[in-house]
Amino acid sequence: TEIYAGGLAGHLPAQPVDFASLERKAAEVLPSWIHSYVAGGAGDEHTQRVNVTEFQRWGLVPRMLNGARDRDLSTELFGLTLPHPLFLAPIGVLGLCAQDFHGDLATARACARTGVPMAVSTLTQDPLEDVAAELGDTPGFFQLYTPDDRDLALSLIHRAENAGYRALIVTVDTWVTGWRPRDLNTANFPQLRGYCLANYTSDEAFLRRLPANPAENPSAVVGEWVNVFGRSLGWQDLDWIREATDLPILLKGIQHPDDVRRAKDHGVDGIHCSNHGGRQANGGVPALRMLPEVVEAAGELPVLFDSGVRSGTDAVKALALGAAAVGVGRPYAYALAAGGEHAVAHQLRSLLAEADLLMAVDGYPDLAALRQADLRQL
Ligand code: FNR
Repeated sequence: TEIYAGGLAGHLPAQPVDFASLERKAAEVLPSWIHSYVAGGAGDEHTQRVNVTEFQRWGLVPRMLNGARDRDLSTELFGLTLPHPLFLAPIGVLGLCAQDFHGDLATARACARTGVPMAVSTLTQDPLEDVAAELGDTPGFFQLYTPDDRDLALSLIHRAENAGYRALIVTVDTWVTGWRPRDLNTANFPQLRGYCLANYTSDEAFLRRLPANPAENPSAVVGEWVNVFGRSLGWQDLDWIREATDLPILLKGIQHPDDVRRAKDHGVDGIHCSNHGGRQANGGVPALRMLPEVVEAAGELPVLFDSGVRSGTDAVKALALGAAAVGVGRPYAYALAAGGEHAVAHQLRSLLAEADLLMAVDGYPDLAALRQADLRQL
């Protein structure tokens, strides 16, 4: 309301309210090795591009005279009632997008200001406890890359529980990173590696892995990099994760309906339909293409969605296709680069305002109505 009313009154917004302008601004301000890391995707980035253009294949047919004057954007997720169906997808090494390298904390503050939940990556630049503290009452979800060392994995899970995270998002599409030409061409891995383990360095289970002689530690820490993602998980690994925690468990990176059914057999609490923003596999289908089948296979289980969402309109379409909540990735990393906490908060408000206004003009007062919406393929 504030941003829109400001526009009606002729005030310039604090920053552009569209994705393309922020993307341009981020490209100007970020050092090129960081920009390559954030903007890049797998291969020739075809999957990354079609993630975005897929949204244009859908159109929402408006409904009239049905009292959409007051909208309710709230959504239920494993016992939580969220005021709106938007969340921040986890971004590893996010901190680098802020000038002081504490971008996880700045982002968490923006989430606290807007009530938008934040999924915090295993590769956060500040300890996961510190990020949780900035979130206050706004829910945080902890995203787990599952290291082979189960003591270390358990330590991360228990730290997340103790810090008050409300769900565990287990990423299953990244036990190796994909073929990313922009990273290879800028040779940015050594720099990134140095930042990847920040969340581990205060972890007792991690410190136990290091040599007793502190002089040997720096090289040992770098060597640990290869263990961050762990080996590829099997379905059986989900069972010990299930045993290890009472937190709701979601699997991130699921696109096939058969995998959804298997996940249900293993007692997960939700599905996170995503192709990692096209960063892992090139040559796949846009994640949105699989969403309806994933939702159908999930039945009662909530489905979170990300990959290619660039606007409030995109978010509304994903909700109409059955997502319980919709995540953004690169957009908030760019906002963080362009203007820190305030820019992220402004962007989240803009996304929500656009979604809310679209539901108003299209005559869909709430998510239940949106799920019944008349969506046509263009
Ligand atoms: C990611 N993503 C990601 N996912 C995850 O589970 N753990 C992680 O640490 C990261 N790290 C990460 C870094 C960067 C720079 C990006 C851009 C993405 C994937 C992320 O959660 C999400 O799936 C995509 O970003 C969604 O696609 P869009 O919105 O970027 O198109």
